[in-house]
Amino acid sequence: MTLFSRGISKLSLLFLLLFIPFLSFSTEEDHSEIHDLMAHLLDPAAEAIWDSAGFVITEEGEFSLEPKNQEEWDKVLYGAKVISESAFLLSRPEISKNRKAWITVSGLLKVVGDKAFEAAERQDVEELFKVGADLYQVCVACHQTYMKD
Ligand code: HEC
Repeated sequence: MTLFSRGISKLSLLFLLLFIPFLSFSTEEDHSEIHDLMAHLLDPAAEAIWDSAGFVITEEGEFSLEPKNQEEWDKVLYGAKVISESAFLLSRPEISKNRKAWITVSGLLKVVGDKAFEAAERQDVEELFKVGADLYQVCVACHQTYMKD
């Protein structure tokens, strides 16, 4: 019985998660749509890349962030793919408002995301690190122009 009602509440939660975005979207809240894409899609995807290349230096010494097994590489592949695909999401007319510079910068996410994906497929950590820096530049390029504080 408890299992059953837990199943129900999960379903209704899923329902809410699926429909709230549409509800808020129809009220012309494109501002929060962009916020959500950034905070819950682009940012975690980029982190998957940035957290997997380079070194951290702690009191105990220097540690490589390099993925250690296929599962960790899979996370990088996933992040890279999300970055690539986000180019299309951000270029949608509702989001881009057909601004040329916005669409151009969004398109760079596809280029850089694909490069990150290829580097992760080859498990090339050095290349992934370089691509990670390029990715950061793309984020900054758009934020400098369009992010109001
Ligand atoms: C094409 C433009 C564009 C690109 C490219 C872009 N952003 Fe953003 N980003 C924005 C805008 C606009 C905002 C402000 C959103 C708002 O507050 O409504 C924003 C806000 C954010 C925020 C703050 C979200 C919040 O809490 O409000 C984060 C984090 C973020 N971006 C991460 C990233 C990362 C990481 C990348 C690169 C992988 C990236 N963005 C690339 C346009 C862009």
